[in-house]
Amino acid sequence: MSKIQKIKGFVDLFPEEAAKFTRMEQLARDTFSRYGFGELRTPVLEKTELFQKSIGEDTDVVGKEMFTFPDRKDRSLTMRPEATAGVVRAFIEAGVHQPGKVSKYFTFGPMFRYERPQKGRQRQFHQINAEVFGAPEAQADAELILMLRTFLNALGLTKLTVELNSLGCHDCRPAYRQALVDYYTSKDRGNFCEDCRRRMDTNPLRVLDCKVPACKALVADAPVITDHLCPECETHFADVRTVLDGAGVAYELNPRLVRGLDYYVRTCFEVASYDIGSQTAVAGGGRYDGLIKTLGGPDCPASGFACGMERLALLLDQLEAPAPDFYLAVVDASASNQAMLFAQQLRDKGLCGEVSFGSGSMKSRMRAANKSGAKVCLIMGGDELAGATVTVKPMTGDGEQETVSQADYLARIEVQE
Ligand code: HAM
Repeated sequence: MSKIQKIKGFVDLFPEEAAKFTRMEQLARDTFSRYGFGELRTPVLEKTELFQKSIGEDTDVVGKEMFTFPDRKDRSLTMRPEATAGVVRAFIEAGVHQPGKVSKYFTFGPMFRYERPQKGRQRQFHQINAEVFGAPEAQADAELILMLRTFLNALGLTKLTVELNSLGCHDCRPAYRQALVDYYTSKDRGNFCEDCRRRMDTNPLRVLDCKVPACKALVADAPVITDHLCPECETHFADVRTVLDGAGVAYELNPRLVRGLDYYVRTCFEVASYDIGSQTAVAGGGRYDGLIKTLGGPDCPASGFACGMERLALLLDQLEAPAPDFYLAVVDASASNQAMLFAQQLRDKGLCGEVSFGSGSMKSRMRAANKSGAKVCLIMGGDELAGATVTVKPMTGDGEQETVSQADYLARIEVQE
């Protein structure tokens, strides 16, 4: 029978790789809780309209990349392509917001985008996501970037670039959009790719982000948003930078950074690494005041970011698993049951280690003990079974092999503790 294979763009994480993900999650939990964030877990499956209304119909994510299918009652459902929309939905649905209250949530988990798989890009990938609701202030954006930096530094990642921009607000962006459309028209719309010709009407800012070389060249001299910010947005952006400057965060201003999701206003940012191939963005985020209201909730400002865990994993060294305390080598099958019970008593005392299964020669058992990296090899055969003893062979240092009663050995551990 032919083997069933995993779906293209989906991956299995075996222990060595999974350990990196666990470490990232632990560090994120520790770091984010120091900033007052609590964990929120939301479903991976949501109604399709949630993403259409939040991320935007004309984005690549909604237009081309969603895993969308009807359920048994023909309702359109979508595997979440990002966490923000679901977190906002949950926040509105729970009705927890009160005016003036700030809520901070983080969430981890798999996201799904139907993109062409390559290094650092999968169809199922994992994000670490943080959102702040109820704080319109620039300091909330700066705090998010500081928290992100603290987390990435704690992971040992320091060679990263932060790109920063302000996308203006609902007051000043319309004039900028018009300035862009005028500019594109002056360059003759027909010279742009088909996607960009459409974007000029639906979201002219996205043209700045086009990867097609001809479009890139055409937008090189396009007007920049930072020349069109209203005084409030200018002050907001200046405050974000003042806090980042004060904290010594190195960043680059990139007035062409527009992000691929439509909900952003004012601050937006991306963190890139140039050590992981062509998919350089390891994290991205920004402010999205207005989204909560658009989705039927209160008029509550919001800001957040997400890190791509697979891309961060590419930057992490393989983790050394801690050495087990023991390897229990059963050299006579008659001792198997007793060995398993003895090992359980050791584990009950907090030790970690494995027991060999089946039958095997002393030589093969010693090889396995060596390979496991255990600090001691405990040997149990017919003699040990008969005498309720265990033979202890230290694997490190120059201690002597000895045979002791199982009870004494267990008691010794208590003394050590
Ligand atoms: P995003 O920039 O679309 O933002 O995704 C955030 C990160 O997820 C990216 O920087 C990248 O590291 C990772 N990522 C995205 N797609 C893939 C993929 N196909 N394979 C591997 N990694 C990927 C958001 O998702 C926003 N929700 C962030 C946010 C939160 N903004 C406000 N709050």
